[in-house]
Amino acid sequence: KVEAVREDVFPQKGTGKLMKPEKTATAPTIRDRPRRASPLAKQSSSKPISKLPNPLPGRKTSHKPDEQLKESLQPATPLSRRQDALLHTRKTLPIWPHADSIRSALRKNNILVLTGETGSGKSTQVPQFLASEPWCTKCIAITQPRRVAAISLARRVAEEMGSHFGRQSPAAKVGYCVRFDNATGPNTKIKFLTEGMLLQETLRDPTLQQYSAVVVDEVHERSVNVDLILGFLKNLVAGVEQGQKRKHPLKVVVMSATADVEALVRLFNNDSNSLDEKGSEAAETDDTDSEGSWSGISSDAESDHKDQSKKSKSQSKSNSKSKSKTSQVATCFVEGRQYPVKTTYLPEPTQDWVESALIRIFQINHREPLPGDILVFLTGQDTIESLEKLVNDYAEGQAKDVPKLLCLPLFAALPQHAQQLVFNPTPPRTRKVILATNIAETSVTVPGVRFVIDCGKSKIKQFRNRLGLETLLSKPISKSAAIQRQGRAGREAPGQCYRLYTEESYNDFDERTTPEILRCDLSHAILTMKARGVDEVVNFPFLDRPHREALEQALLQLLNLGCMSDTGSITELGLKVAKLPLTPALGRVLVEAARPERDCLSEAIDIISALSVEDVFLNLVTEERKEEAEAARRELYRREGDHMTLLVTVQRYAEEQSDRKAWCQRHFVSHRAMQNVMNIRKQLHSQSLSLLPPSSSSSSSSLTAHQPPSTLTETKAASLLRCLLRGFIANTARLMPDGSYKTLTGSQTVAIHPSSVLFGRKTEGIVFTEFVYTGKAWARGVSACQLDWMGEVVGELMGS
Ligand code: CDP
Repeated sequence: KVEAVREDVFPQKGTGKLMKPEKTATAPTIRDRPRRASPLAKQSSSKPISKLPNPLPGRKTSHKPDEQLKESLQPATPLSRRQDALLHTRKTLPIWPHADSIRSALRKNNILVLTGETGSGKSTQVPQFLASEPWCTKCIAITQPRRVAAISLARRVAEEMGSHFGRQSPAAKVGYCVRFDNATGPNTKIKFLTEGMLLQETLRDPTLQQYSAVVVDEVHERSVNVDLILGFLKNLVAGVEQGQKRKHPLKVVVMSATADVEALVRLFNNDSNSLDEKGSEAAETDDTDSEGSWSGISSDAESDHKDQSKKSKSQSKSNSKSKSKTSQVATCFVEGRQYPVKTTYLPEPTQDWVESALIRIFQINHREPLPGDILVFLTGQDTIESLEKLVNDYAEGQAKDVPKLLCLPLFAALPQHAQQLVFNPTPPRTRKVILATNIAETSVTVPGVRFVIDCGKSKIKQFRNRLGLETLLSKPISKSAAIQRQGRAGREAPGQCYRLYTEESYNDFDERTTPEILRCDLSHAILTMKARGVDEVVNFPFLDRPHREALEQALLQLLNLGCMSDTGSITELGLKVAKLPLTPALGRVLVEAARPERDCLSEAIDIISALSVEDVFLNLVTEERKEEAEAARRELYRREGDHMTLLVTVQRYAEEQSDRKAWCQRHFVSHRAMQNVMNIRKQLHSQSLSLLPPSSSSSSSSLTAHQPPSTLTETKAASLLRCLLRGFIANTARLMPDGSYKTLTGSQTVAIHPSSVLFGRKTEGIVFTEFVYTGKAWARGVSACQLDWMGEVVGELMGS
């Protein structure tokens, strides 16, 4: 039975609200690009061939959500009043008329691939559509690539459902779970969680018994974690999983703004674990999909026509094939809401785009009426903080009659409460200026934005196989990322996008961002797979198969860390490391620190907590301030290097009883970063207690009683450095006769980063926790270590 719905008419026609996009010669609007063919255009037809309701604009197609909401309405509490108000907004979302179709698709199929542009309502509405389904007796998980999105979505959905939120009340129906912060309760029905957290849960509960459905959101971002989740879920629904089976099938919804739907459908439809025959399978899997699934397809008449013939040709071929499939995949496309966005480019390339952004912000503020907030895409914390400072400085000199500017940074390492500020309503006579990384590209919808300024770059992780080191470099974004950024200006009204690059540069951008799995260090991913029982990594159903060299490097690293045996199976130590919410290298440091002869678990936790947040020490711009900070911080600096300095900073902060904020100000330390450190430290303490029971007296007492650790002795520092070496032997370098440092494993020359307390000092060996490449290779987060200690670790590895 073939069921399909056409949705290309929704929602632009009939509502009268949305304008037809304008076309400008130099500034193409988002609609100027060739109309995006439906990802499943091949299966579309010119007529609806479905019994499912055609969601006509402006007409109410479903009563169910209303009924559901009425049921849960409480007599006029503040929560229910807010819920009522939000219901009106929810009904205007492009996805709203599809509620019944989505439910119906999931009653008939276990898997739904749902595509819809950012802002169409996927993340907030889909879990609510499913929550009342008869098959949904347990919790629904919705994965997010970033913690800020998981938390803000949970808050929003709780409001929409008129429910308390997170851990505020045991009755809360909506919660979230991110690294180091679990805000769920016994009654949580909808749980937003980061991809990493779901992967951790699959280690404890391989068949995901606690869930009735898993919604994998933002698949187009193609993080390594999302690729792993998709592979695990594919195996789970296909029954490839070993051991216990689920009583009821798990429903899986895969949601994306721009993803390659065909590849996703192929992944779930292909019963074979190997995707090597990808290309040749394509036609057959398409058939299977159209045969057994429902498709809500938006496509223009021309492609409908062309594809109709392809479809009928292939349909008969698929009939018998689909019977052998274990799970049917439904697909759905929801057209987004997009107002025209006028886009301008720079006539000439610029090197200083921070300055270009600054000028543009003030031009907008002087010329454009309110309301209309500005969203600026920058590369990272450093550029965001420089621009924030400049905007605040210049804003002081503005005339009284121009709107005030409220600068709000938004980047992944920012603490939660600071991230949440961007969602607050803009105060009167003020314009918000959100300075964000690509976090705001698709993950987070900031309301009120009419102007986008795009620097055209983002920081990209790239693993250098030869060096065995991962770099984080500012690189040009892809066209699809630029289009996503541009679209952010037109969600609520016509908008403007200022690209801080030339049109020629844009034309040179890659079409799509390379999936992370093809460019990053895979040791974490492989350890997770091994811990999950995937022995033959090469047979895993990858959406994109990682490069052989990268796989080999990762396996070698796991072997060196002692997480894997030379037969390729995971060791007991590896299992422990996999269960820690840390990279394998940091996890290995923690395991080492728990050994009786090292006896420094508590201190190692302090260091790792400080390494897990944004910069603990404030970045200062002027030379004068830098000197002032140096003097104030001197009492925290340790000659062993940055890690011991971080330890002392955490210890002093923890010991400070009276006014921690003032302590931070005195030492030029970021108070918000330290609050984060304390939270992570607490979580790591409790996780380590169960995973790594400390065998020695001192560590165990400081772990259990949360006592501030005693003064850092030289012996303790040496112990900690040796633990650090055990996890980071690949990140070590030796002093050469010419005064340079060369890495032990790749013979790469590295220099100590100027931010290090060891900058300008010479020591026989160094170990570093970060490698930065900006025209020159820098070691960041550096400690001095003895060559003997390095030799011990190398000897251990040779002997193993
Ligand atoms: O997932 P998708 O990008 O399709 O949309 P969504 O995240 O469900 O957002 C739908 C709408 O809900 C947005 O346009 C915002 O108006 C609103 N929203 C919000 O106000 N606050 C949030 N934290 C998330 C969404």
